[in-house]
Amino acid sequence: MWSAEPAVKTESEMGTEVTKVAEAVRRSRGETMRTVTTRQPIRGRSAWHPNDFKTPAAYSVTLNNAHFKAFDAALVANRQAGRKTEDIMCADFLLDAITADVAAWRDEVMMGRGFVMLDRFPTDHYSLDDLGMIFYGLGTHFGRAVSQSSMGDRLGHVTDVGGRDRRERAYRNSRELTLHTDRCDLVAMLCVRQAMSGGVSGYSSAHTIYNEMLATRPELVEPLFNGFQYHRRGEQLPGEPIVTPERVPVLSECGGALSTAYIRSYIEMAANEQGTPLSDLEVAALDYFDEMSNRDDVKLTFMMEPGQAIFFNNCMLLHNRTNFDDYDDPARKRLLLRLWLMLDGMRPLAPAVQAYKGTEGIQPHEGNSTYYRGSAFGRGGSIGA
Ligand SMILES: [Fe+2]
Repeated sequence: MWSAEPAVKTESEMGTEVTKVAEAVRRSRGETMRTVTTRQPIRGRSAWHPNDFKTPAAYSVTLNNAHFKAFDAALVANRQAGRKTEDIMCADFLLDAITADVAAWRDEVMMGRGFVMLDRFPTDHYSLDDLGMIFYGLGTHFGRAVSQSSMGDRLGHVTDVGGRDRRERAYRNSRELTLHTDRCDLVAMLCVRQAMSGGVSGYSSAHTIYNEMLATRPELVEPLFNGFQYHRRGEQLPGEPIVTPERVPVLSECGGALSTAYIRSYIEMAANEQGTPLSDLEVAALDYFDEMSNRDDVKLTFMMEPGQAIFFNNCMLLHNRTNFDDYDDPARKRLLLRLWLMLDGMRPLAPAVQAYKGTEGIQPHEGNSTYYRGSAFGRGGSIGA
């Protein structure tokens, strides 16, 4: 349980406690609340810089025969039971022989640097269906998979069907994506095939960005905690508002954990939709957040190789990819399998973040398209995750 996770709690506990005490003192004096300025930097492995990793081996695990044997046994058991991949639950995909390893990988994602790379999935050894079942089954040991779009896909295929058309969901086009988070708690991606060229992955720690902003431009941190309304880009259910009623904080603190949620294009679409421009301070805060997250000494970049799977904490890390050019042959096109995983309360999240993420991902509904037909574009970039 989260309460048994000392690393993350310790990192931000001090700042939270100081804030709480200061607020309580002000309240007891009858003073009006003012902007919190008692935030403290986060110390610990979650606030990493790329230079902390001398080689990819520092964040990678090379899978071995014991892992493959466990995966095979679970695959066979589920095939024999006649289960469909997206129906598999954690209790169905038993990995008893490698329980300690799986727990260590999960702990790293939850309490450590926030991500782990599992290397050497034998992508050539399995059919795509079998590979998907193994990946999905392993994912159930990290969290509960939810729908990634109106199509209801819980085992997502990150591949180009929309070219450079920015109306198509980001995971289905080939445009460059700015650093963002997805609408879930954890994300996993398994590279099956690379593009002809491009498609370099990038990851930044929100804890590092927060620390750097706090040290250099603390006045720009508070607008991020205050948050922004988000556009639903046509994926809301009938009857739901187009724009979130609540402000979703880019940075939020809850239960001693600092979390992030961020898609700038959705923030700008919401402002356009409502005809309420962001303030100069808000734009400056977002610009600086973007600038900081993209700095070479903040963003870790690498090209995912076939057989590599990354599991990462979407509450702690931002991610992106560069644009790519692909083959015409569909069988050669870039393909990553993706999971959106929910922790169901295991990580404390601010109520507005919880409300934004929901519990079931993006709910499938009639007309289940990932193509946006509205007019509320933000500036540049691709839209969505
Ligand atoms: Fe994404």
